Amino acid sequence: MKQIGTFRVNGKHCDAIIEPHMLLVDVIRDHIGLTGTKRACASGNCGACTVLADDQPICSCLTLAVTAQDRALETVEGLRSADGTLHPLQQAFIDHCAAQCGYCTAGMLMTAKALLDANPRPSREDVKRALSGNICRCTGYVKILDAVMDAAQKINAAREVAA
Ligand code: FES
Ligand code: FES
Repeated sequence: MKQIGTFRVNGKHCDAIIEPHMLLVDVIRDHIGLTGTKRACASGNCGACTVLADDQPICSCLTLAVTAQDRALETVEGLRSADGTLHPLQQAFIDHCAAQCGYCTAGMLMTAKALLDANPRPSREDVKRALSGNICRCTGYVKILDAVMDAAQKINAAREVAA
């Protein structure tokens, strides 16, 4: 049975006509039009579909859209500032060439954002553990880890300057 779903994505309210069986990844991509989030394995194994729900990374391919209506959702499109400035994680991925095809990148960024929000000074091991559910099939992980560590350092340095 079709119904109007109301979602809060990247701080904005979005309505979409949904059905009870629909997955959040498909609603975000096909009904809300935010195609940065990727659908790959569709079985919770690769992390490409990761979005944040109330600041926690979730697999949107394992989440029924109806259950996400009361949660604050954040997708990769929400990382950039309103003035177009990239999030330090996005900039660090560029600086460290941490993407090739980029299919995993949105999920990597969202998982890394949740980590840095919760733990601003992670060790490399912390980053590895946090990203262990995000699979990259083409660039390897060294540059991704370098990028996340660099972003953490830059975010902390900016905070110290602002304090
Ligand atoms: S597409 Fe959701 S975990 Fe792979
Ligand atoms: S950059 Fe291609 S899958 Fe990660």
